[in-house]
Formats: sequence, C-alpha cells, structure tokens
Amino acid sequence: MKLRLVLLTLAILWVELQHGASQQVKRRKEAGEKSIRSGGKRPKVRYTKLKDVGGRGQSILTQVLATGRFLRLGENLSLTPGKNMELRCKGSKIGWSYPTYLDTFNDSRLSVKQTDRYSQLILTSPSAADTGSYSCWVILCDGSECLKDPDHISSTYIFFTDKDNLFVPSAIHFEIVYLRPDRPSVIPCRVTSPLAKVSLHREVPPEEMEANGTLVTYNPTKGFILQMPSLEHQGVFYCKAVSKASPQISNKYQLLYVEVPSGPPYATIEASVSSARGGDNINITCTVLGEPDVDVSFTWTYPGQGQRPVSVRDLWRLVNRGMGHTTRISQSVMAVDDLETIDIGKYICSAKNKNGQTTVVTSVSASAN
Ligand SMILES: *[C@@H]1O[C@H](CO)[C@@H](O)[C@H](O)[C@H]1NC(C)=O
Ligand SMILES: *[C@@H]1O[C@H](CO)[C@@H](O)[C@H](O)[C@H]1NC(C)=O
Ligand SMILES: *[C@@H]1O[C@H](CO)[C@@H](O)[C@H](O)[C@H]1NC(C)=O
Ligand SMILES: *[C@@H]1O[C@H](CO)[C@@H](O)[C@H](O)[C@H]1NC(C)=O
Repeated sequence: MKLRLVLLTLAILWVELQHGASQQVKRRKEAGEKSIRSGGKRPKVRYTKLKDVGGRGQSILTQVLATGRFLRLGENLSLTPGKNMELRCKGSKIGWSYPTYLDTFNDSRLSVKQTDRYSQLILTSPSAADTGSYSCWVILCDGSECLKDPDHISSTYIFFTDKDNLFVPSAIHFEIVYLRPDRPSVIPCRVTSPLAKVSLHREVPPEEMEANGTLVTYNPTKGFILQMPSLEHQGVFYCKAVSKASPQISNKYQLLYVEVPSGPPYATIEASVSSARGGDNINITCTVLGEPDVDVSFTWTYPGQGQRPVSVRDLWRLVNRGMGHTTRISQSVMAVDDLETIDIGKYICSAKNKNGQTTVVTSVSASAN
C-alpha cells in the first residue's frame, strides 16, 4: 500500500515536472524514467529543503546590473538590445527556460553556468528576437529522481525594445492561424515594447478589427486573442504597431476556420498498386490527419479475411506545422505478401476516434497480364 502511495505521488510529481520543463530538466526526467522501470524497490523520497533561497512568493530571479548590483525581477522587464544580459537564480541546482528559438538554433550567445550558490544565464548581444519569457526554478533531487520545487519558480517576460523592430521577428513570414469555435485563437504578433500601440487589420476588404476588451483583446506578450473565433474571422490579417516613430507592419497571418474541431476522423486510403498479379506484395495504407491529442484506432475488412495471413502495423507521429501548430498523422498499414486470387477485391478501413467513425474503401484488381 505504502509503495503504491509513493508511486502515485511520484506520478503526480512527474506530471508537474513535464509541465514547462526546459531541455535540461527533460534529460533528467528521461534518466529518471529509466530508473522507474528498472528498479522495483525504491527508497523513500526525501528532499532536503534549501534554506538559502527566497521564501514563497519572493522571486529568486535577479538581473546583474552593469554596476554589479542585483535587481530582483518582477513580471516583466524592458532592456536595450545589444547589451549583454546576465540573469542569476539562487540555488545549488537550478533549471531554466527561455525562448525556444534559442535552443532551436543552438545559439552560442546563450550560456548557463551553475555554481554552488546560484546559476548564471548569460545572453550576449541580445536582439528583438530574444524577447520572451525567462524562468528559473530550484531542482530538488533524491538520487536520480529530480523535480521542480513548486515554491521556487520565478518567471519574467523580457522585452528587448528595438525601435526598428517593433514586432518580435519571426522566421515564418506567412503564418497559418487555425480558428476553432470552441477555444480562443491567438494571432501571435508580439511586440518588443510594452508601450507600442497595436492594431489588427484585415487585408481584403481593408478594415481594422477593433480590440474592445471582450471578443478581441491584445496582450503584448502573446498577440491578439480572439475569444470566440467564427467563420467571419477567416482571411489574411496583419498587425500594425505605432511607437514614437512611423508605424510598422507585422508578418501576415492567414486565419483558417477549422469546421470540425471535434468530429469523426478525416481518413484517406491508398493501395501501393491498384492492380496486382499473383505473387506480388502489396500495402494498403489508411491515413488520418487530426488533432495531436486525439487517439485513432483502425479496423480492417478485406477479401482474404480469416483465410489469409496479413500483417497490420499502426503508427502515428506529430508533424510540426510551425509556431505551435501541430497535426497528428495516424496510419494503419496492411501488408499482403505473395498475393493470391482471393486477395483481389475491396479493402475497407474504419478509423475511429472518440467522436465517431469514418470508413474508406479502395480496390485492388487483377492485373491484365
Ligand atoms: C508588467 O508588469 C507590471 C507589474 O509589475 C504590470 O502591471 C504590467 O501589466 C506588466 N506589463 C505587461 C505588458 O505584461
Ligand atoms: C550545439 O552546440 C554545441 C556546442 O556549441 C555542440 O556540442 C552540439 O553538438 C550542438 N548541437 C546541435 C544539435 O547542433
Ligand atoms: C467588440 O468587437 C466585436 C468585433 O469587432 C463586436 O462583434 C462586438 O460587438 C464588440 N463588443 C463590444 C462590447 O463593443
Ligand atoms: C510496404 O511497406 C513496408 C514498410 O511499411 C515497406 O518496407 C515495403 O517496401 C512496402 N511494400 C510495397 C510493395 O510498397
């Protein structure tokens, strides 16, 4: 019973760990995962409380100023691009998160060093593109088991205010934003200055979409938020920002309305050949494109059912369509080897998710020669 409770507690901690973990912590988690599988017995988990770090609610994140003094960081901070930035976080074992862009490009401008008492994050020559959320947390460890101390997490949003780049630059110049009737959509035109005045515009017909605080709101750290997206919001949009100098225009966003966010699967079926001869090997592939978190199961009906051996392989993967939009591709591949006359005919695939079922059919005919 006791072991079970410990395991449950660990599972909960695990979920917390996964939440917003940085690359560093992810690696630790994987190591931990292995130890869970291999070790049957586990010692009672004891984490030493750190006396050195700030109390609950007090930020452990500071900026080291040029004068050598420390500035305890609050919700946000505006800095000048080009000037190296040093952040420190108190604690002998610290995890960090920062804009994913810095990891994606394996940026050598970023360095993290841990000493006995604090961890230091240095970003050299920061630019407008480095604008984003920076967080650190105390990692508590017991052997190879590590977790994020929920009482010691600090986060700050840093604006690298650049008058030539009022919008945070993005590698994607024409981005697709999916609108779903059941959840808010975000048009991610973030700015580098919290003081910039930002408006949202439709390209054709040219018109401004007013942010009136209810259905459309603007948050400099996220972009425009459409609370209740609908079909009328489809189209090409851009944002306009005004600070002191002349107005600037953001990248373009194609807003697409997703009609059935939670319907039965959208399935297609394809045979590796449409006509085959005795002795051929063929594959029939049933493919579903859908939401990342929706499971799909497949069932098959085929000519040689019950009489011929076939192999079926189900797989799925996530495909990143840029900036937070991910599609899940689920596939079931049926392989029929050494084709016989009985295998000629209709192959039917049924794909099922929690919202329903879709059936698709393809035929394999006998080759004329
Ligand atoms: C920045 O932080 C202050 C409080 O420290 C808050 O009032 C303000 O709304 C924040 N600005 C943004 C853009 O989040
Ligand atoms: C990232 O850079 C480090 C050193 O700068 C190098 O050791 C590592 O292999 C690089 N990783 C990738 C994925 O490029
Ligand atoms: C806010 O704007 C939206 C669309 O621009 C409009 O449909 C809505 O009625 C407005 N709400 C208020 C309170 O003005
Ligand atoms: C069937 O699929 C397997 C892997 O899924 C592949 O190795 C094989 O070449 C395919 N065969 C045909 C006839 O397409």
